[in-house]
Amino acid sequence: MTGSNDKPTILLQLDVDPHPSVFDSATAIDAGVDRLLTFGGVLIEQVRGLVHGALFTRGVSELNRTAVFVGGSSVVAAESLYNEAIATFFGPFRVSVMLDPNGANTTAAAAALAASEGMGGSIEGARAAVLAGTGPVGMRVARLLARLGADVALGSRDAGRAHAIAKNMAAQTGTTIGGFATHDPKSLEEGLRGASIVVAAGALGVPLLPLDIRKRIESLRVAIDLNAVPPAGIEGIDPGDKKTTRDGILAWGALGVGGMKMKIHKKAIQELFVSNDRTLDAEGILDIGRALVEKKV
Ligand SMILES: NC(=O)c1ccc[n+]([C@@H]2O[C@H](COP(=O)([O-])OP(=O)(O)OC[C@H]3O[C@@H](n4cnc5c(N)ncnc54)[C@H](OP(=O)(O)O)[C@@H]3O)[C@@H](O)[C@H]2O)c1
Repeated sequence: MTGSNDKPTILLQLDVDPHPSVFDSATAIDAGVDRLLTFGGVLIEQVRGLVHGALFTRGVSELNRTAVFVGGSSVVAAESLYNEAIATFFGPFRVSVMLDPNGANTTAAAAALAASEGMGGSIEGARAAVLAGTGPVGMRVARLLARLGADVALGSRDAGRAHAIAKNMAAQTGTTIGGFATHDPKSLEEGLRGASIVVAAGALGVPLLPLDIRKRIESLRVAIDLNAVPPAGIEGIDPGDKKTTRDGILAWGALGVGGMKMKIHKKAIQELFVSNDRTLDAEGILDIGRALVEKKV
């Protein structure tokens, strides 16, 4: 239900970590939230009670002024809270909910949009490799690139982990996602063969793709490095790069992607208060990003 009233907006921030993310709280305030209620270390059995508090304090026509945000460093744990919050709703008693553990969905949406822009507007059929695609951000990047029609493979130092995550994700999304090992230069180069797009989603300060290997992948057109802390995840890419030409390919660095990530994050929070029935996971958040790019919102 879309509502219009002047009740203060309330965001219930549920976090799986002991301390609710200050980053997420600050972003919510900057997005214009009037009252933020933060809870850390939230367990699945506590969600129902917390969400009931948000549902039963306002009339149904006012529920668009209350929303739930689920975050924290574990995507799996946060997903469980998100699903439980949605399962708590019944009839007209519902509020909008957003899932963004570790900024994974908003960052992945911004990275997917950069990839699409770098490829001239479409990544349909393009081969995309996600290095360190096993972390919260990398998994969401792989998922969104696959949703946009790319032929995705995710890399990990552990081939078994890459294949297991890829298989699980492919089953969840109904797409085809492969896996490859990155533990030595030979397997890394093999995994990148034929890729037009490479996204590095490794931990802070971890170099993943050396310049010599990158230069040998002649099919590459777009490289996106999400790590802001030196040394770079993709050698030769600067954190501030934003559609910058580097050795004949278009490059984005962490700060180049980060500006769009912040715009998407704030807009998604604002969208939660437009109606009381939005459920924003990776795909919904990507749609908000696309609308921002197309200036529809
Ligand atoms: N630009 C932005 O707006 C933005 C926003 C949020 C996050 N980020 C960045 O996105 C990146 C990914 O975030 P995340 O939370 O998903 O990262 P993460 O969980 O800390 O690490 C991601 C993956 O990196 C690999 N890794 C970890 N330690 C490593 C090491 N010592 N050597 C080689 N590989 C290692 C692991 O993959 P395997 O063990 O499977 O190889 C891990 O699954 C981070 O750099 C983060 O700062 C950027």
